Amino acid sequence: MSDPLSAPDRSKDGLPVHIREVGPSDGPLLEALFRCLSPRSIYNRFLAPVRHLDDGRIHALTHMDPTIEFALAAYRRSERGEYLLGVGRMHRVGPEEAEMAIVVGDAWQRLGIGSLLLREVVRRARDTGIRWFLSTVDPNNLPLLRFAEAVGFKGALHYRDGLLWMRTDVEALFPAPGEDWRSRTPRA
Ligand SMILES: CC(C)(COP(=O)(O)OP(=O)(O)OC[C@H]1O[C@@H](n2cnc3c(N)ncnc32)[C@H](O)[C@@H]1OP(=O)(O)O)[C@@H](O)C(=O)NCCC(=O)NCCS
Repeated sequence: MSDPLSAPDRSKDGLPVHIREVGPSDGPLLEALFRCLSPRSIYNRFLAPVRHLDDGRIHALTHMDPTIEFALAAYRRSERGEYLLGVGRMHRVGPEEAEMAIVVGDAWQRLGIGSLLLREVVRRARDTGIRWFLSTVDPNNLPLLRFAEAVGFKGALHYRDGLLWMRTDVEALFPAPGEDWRSRTPRA
């Protein structure tokens, strides 16, 4: 398993949150995280009622091509070892565009962990020249829409084929304190 990217942050329950890259040996930890997801969260993450993570999906989720994709895990340690709280991932689909997905186990939602994870995904994405995140979202996924609003979503939303297609301006996410991203002048 890879090392933490930095000193741990803390979630709103006061407990530490470490963030590191997901690697090839993380299948069992991803399966354990999957078992911590409600059917609603599973549907919202995969846009399908996935019952379990089969070998093919585990392989795809743990074996990234580092030239175009990465996945970061938020985790904690207990006496029984490490456990995952959530995962954020990005997959480049164009020179400045990447698909982005994020999930936090239900027991740890609303504690700021999704924000911590996304902040790190954004930092890395910017470093590799990504300007836009693309996400496909169930229109009933109100937590995600509220989450997007909270982290400074700016971009485009289209409703097509029963789904919301989000194109998120990566530069606008997590505006600096005092900066009103709504009034920011669009870049040329
Ligand atoms: C979307 C998701 C990742 C958010 O993660 P999280 O760790 O709960 O998010 P945070 O705690 O950082 O929330 C930050 C802010 O977003 C907003 N927010 C997040 N979840 C919300 C909810 N259920 N209802 C209302 N607002 C919400 C709030 O403003 C929140 O701040 P607050 O708690 O101080 O009010 C999580 O709900 C999730 O995993 N959902 C299932 C999978 C999914 O939908 N993924 C997205 C599609 S790929």
